[in-house]
Amino acid sequence: MHSDDSLDPTDWPAFRAQAHAMLDDMLNYTEQLRARPVWQPIPAPIRAHFQEQLPQHGTDLTELHHQFMHDIVPYAIGNAHPGFMGWVQGGGTPVGMLAEMLSAGLNANVGGREQIPIEVERQILHWMRELFAFPASAGGVFVTGTSMANFMAVVIARNRFLGNQSRRTGISESGKKLTAYTSAGAHGCVAKAMDLAGFGTAALRQIPMNDAFQIDLQKLAQQIAIDQAEGDEPFLIVGSAGTVDVGAIDDLAALADLAQQHQCWFHVDGAYGALGMLSAQIAPRLTGIERAASIAFDFHKWGQVPYDAGYLLVRNIQDQLDSFSAPANYLQRETRGMAANSPWPCDLGPDLSRGFRALKTWFTIAAFGTQKLGQIIDNTCALAQYLARSIQEEPKLELMAPVSLNIVCFRYTGLPDLKNMTIEQADVLNNELVIRLQEAGLVAPSSTLINGQFAIRAAFVNHRTTRADVDTLVLSVLRLGDALFASTKPQ
Ligand SMILES: Cc1ncc(COP(=O)(O)O)c(C=O)c1O
Repeated sequence: MHSDDSLDPTDWPAFRAQAHAMLDDMLNYTEQLRARPVWQPIPAPIRAHFQEQLPQHGTDLTELHHQFMHDIVPYAIGNAHPGFMGWVQGGGTPVGMLAEMLSAGLNANVGGREQIPIEVERQILHWMRELFAFPASAGGVFVTGTSMANFMAVVIARNRFLGNQSRRTGISESGKKLTAYTSAGAHGCVAKAMDLAGFGTAALRQIPMNDAFQIDLQKLAQQIAIDQAEGDEPFLIVGSAGTVDVGAIDDLAALADLAQQHQCWFHVDGAYGALGMLSAQIAPRLTGIERAASIAFDFHKWGQVPYDAGYLLVRNIQDQLDSFSAPANYLQRETRGMAANSPWPCDLGPDLSRGFRALKTWFTIAAFGTQKLGQIIDNTCALAQYLARSIQEEPKLELMAPVSLNIVCFRYTGLPDLKNMTIEQADVLNNELVIRLQEAGLVAPSSTLINGQFAIRAAFVNHRTTRADVDTLVLSVLRLGDALFASTKPQ
């Protein structure tokens, strides 16, 4: 099918027919998602298909397409499926899928230069400035995800505090002992960012949470005072807009005040929660986010944009440039020609070559509008409340944390209650229960620990999930829980 001289097809009509078959298969996949299992274990022979030697000769595209449908599609993690409730993963949309195809066709390298894809990315920046009430001086850049965006924020805060020369001298030169602050409920990538930025995770103070799983402000202020008395220099406060375990929103306005008082960089990890700004119900609870020096968030979570589409928004683009621009002869800027249009995205983050993530984001926001996307976010929160109510009405289930947004942590306790089971037995039972739920493939939550105890964790992010899926979750937990409980030895 391919030309001898290039990788393009020789038989375009045959290729076109093949392309349409592939598109149809993925549209069918999405349309019929509900009939499939959310997830299923990967059989050994299928895994073995991906342990072959480097192919010297090509394989027919029709054959590869068949292999994709047979060996790959059924064994993805299933986050597009309405029954997927694990971790924090968006469902994507057919619109986003088509946009991905268009951007792959264009094969734009959006590291920089005079090209309209850069303007599409700037359009997203304008929209995000508007959404978060950030000033015209704000900069933004697409990255893989919030883990990367949080890391970049730590680097920017570090350079802001130590001065730009630290990019050359490294961080030990100043002799300063810099400390950062976040809640014990913050995502692990914040500690990882401190590690990668050269501080070490010990320089991150993980402050205990209050009963609402928000950072305890009094303990935070105390810790800052202790550190200052010992000669440490607080430079960064990271607030969470939706913690990964339970969906708690820190008091962002109070954190902004504290950061201002101590002249710290105030960064918000809003991986999924920041886009709560699209919901009239949630936006007021994010008050203070508009005062952040930087916000990290993902369009691929509550924004339903296909993976990956992380974003870092920075109040002052100059801070971004100071941290990431790195002039080079071969990246010379001009006022005309293809090398015009500076600053480029490569000046705003670590990547030079980068794909056109802005296109699928632009398509998604433009196709649905912010009202509809906000309504989807509200629906996911309503599902969480519905599940919480079902749990509270069911004596064999226990809610383990307040439901702030779209995440519910609970466990099966059995009757009469946990007195019949030790904490360890309950942990083992619920752990097994989650695995069996995933293997059954109807609804698939994940798990976490709440106050040291195992919790079934259902996060509603996918726009396809309905109340019927929540009912299936409750019924399945009860059915599997009863069966496991019956086999548990009483203490
Ligand atoms: C609060 C929070 N922060 C950071 C992350 C990491 O985001 P990503 O997976 O896009 O790197 C997550 C992921 O779920 C999260 O929930």
